[in-house]
Amino acid sequence: TPVALLLSGRGSNATALIEACNAPDFPARICLVLSNNPDAPGLDMARKAGLPTKAIDHRPFKKDRTAHEQAIHASLLEAGAEAVCLAGYMRLLTPFLTTEWAGKMLNIHPSLLPSFPGLHTHERALDAGVRIHGCTVHLVTEGMDEGPILGQAAVPVLPGDTADLLAARVLREEHRLYPRALRHFLDKAAPSCQAETALLVA
Ligand code: GRF
Repeated sequence: TPVALLLSGRGSNATALIEACNAPDFPARICLVLSNNPDAPGLDMARKAGLPTKAIDHRPFKKDRTAHEQAIHASLLEAGAEAVCLAGYMRLLTPFLTTEWAGKMLNIHPSLLPSFPGLHTHERALDAGVRIHGCTVHLVTEGMDEGPILGQAAVPVLPGDTADLLAARVLREEHRLYPRALRHFLDKAAPSCQAETALLVA
């Protein structure tokens, strides 16, 4: 299945997805890596990996978010994308893109949703005193970080944790979870995924 990645920054989750796609039996191939930030390190990484990349800077669109998303949508269609993975895409989506890609757009979020939607999840988890934290892959709907959960991975919060330490522990799990959740999402009709389903579906 042709899958496009949308990112804004570092691109470590994109890297994990790209590496997963190198396995011959993985059900996705990356058809486009697109960023709203022309300077995103993740875009550079994808270019070096030999993948088609595109930057569509949001700034020239000023406040017309829908026009920016229409340009993104046109590129996704042109690339033949059948699903989209948000991988550190840091712009809120409007109903235009979430409707066009309803049921076909995934996101990874660094908390165990529905706890801690939005930003600064690791600081907020520490402040709340939770003992278990983690990450979630979910379908994208209009409400931010609100769509149906496809998979989660948990990590302990340890004594002496800082937000950075916790973020690094969660990020390692993000890199394992996202490819597995994407595989499960694309293969969901396949009976061979039953065992994984128990681990992934919340
Ligand atoms: C990750 O923590 C992801 O969960 C969140 O944004 C961060 C992106 O990191 N949505 P990277 O660009 O994938 O390294």
